[in-house]
Amino acid sequence: MNVSLNGKNAVICGSSQGIGLAIAEELALLGATCILLARNETTLQAAVKKLDTSSAQHHSFAIADFANTGEVKKAIDDIVAKQPIHILINNTGGPAAGPIVEATADQFVNAFQQHLINNHILTQAVLPGMKQAGYGRIINVISTSVKIPLPNLGVSNTIRGAVASWAKTMANELGQFNITVNNILPGLTHTQRLEKLTENTVAKSGQPKDVVEKGMKESIPMRRFGAPEEIGAVAAFLASPAASYINGVSIPVDGGRTGSI
Ligand SMILES: NC(=O)c1ccc[n+]([C@@H]2O[C@H](COP(=O)([O-])OP(=O)(O)OC[C@H]3O[C@@H](n4cnc5c(N)ncnc54)[C@H](OP(=O)(O)O)[C@@H]3O)[C@@H](O)[C@H]2O)c1
Repeated sequence: MNVSLNGKNAVICGSSQGIGLAIAEELALLGATCILLARNETTLQAAVKKLDTSSAQHHSFAIADFANTGEVKKAIDDIVAKQPIHILINNTGGPAAGPIVEATADQFVNAFQQHLINNHILTQAVLPGMKQAGYGRIINVISTSVKIPLPNLGVSNTIRGAVASWAKTMANELGQFNITVNNILPGLTHTQRLEKLTENTVAKSGQPKDVVEKGMKESIPMRRFGAPEEIGAVAAFLASPAASYINGVSIPVDGGRTGSI
């Protein structure tokens, strides 16, 4: 099985920590040159140093706030001016938790921009290089709420569905160029995002954290949270030549938690 990413350049968004960083770590292990994109320069500098360089890669980072689509466009235009991008990981911070009936119009607009519009800008920027190379992998980190909406994540559930629909439409149009578009749907994965969601539940329920976490784990057939590298491994496989005929799918990586077939 060919999983080598030697000679491939990857842009990994939301990669200063958590799932994005874990994806970059796995891509680097397979030989990709990684360009990290997020807001925090200090954590990005530290993140670049964690990436494997045994294929003599020179990893780097760029800064953009996904709340500002102009910044994202400038960052990706600067990146593609320097090298073609073969792998794009669309990922950023998730919308705040809360019931949908309390969500404001601005929250929907901001989340749509931060997720869907940025994915679109990033994808349009990397497409010419992918077409010329005859190789493209666009991987979107979304959520299992694409399959079954999750409680107390009203804005997130709504926006994730839009991103999944956008991705499937892109897959239909881009497959002919040997560019695949797929989605990873993480379940409860042990990152700072999960810590925040847990704290939110602790505050709302008044229950101790260990009790809240035990309840969350009981909702998972494997009875544990996922590790970020377990998401990273799936992304690295999808990015590889071995995944050449996988296109337009959404893969839950959730220990079996999603209750649909
Ligand atoms: N963890 C889970 O259990 C879980 C489950 C399902 C879905 N997801 C989704 O998977 C994605 C990644 O989750 P995670 O757990 O890895 O989150 P995380 O630990 O909070 O990390 C989020 C990453 O995105 C970056 N980011 C956040 N806001 C940004 C902004 N405005 N502009 C640019 N970069 C930004 C952060 O870096 P900077 O702060 O440096 O910008 C960080 O690198 C999220 O969309 C999340 O909702 C997570």
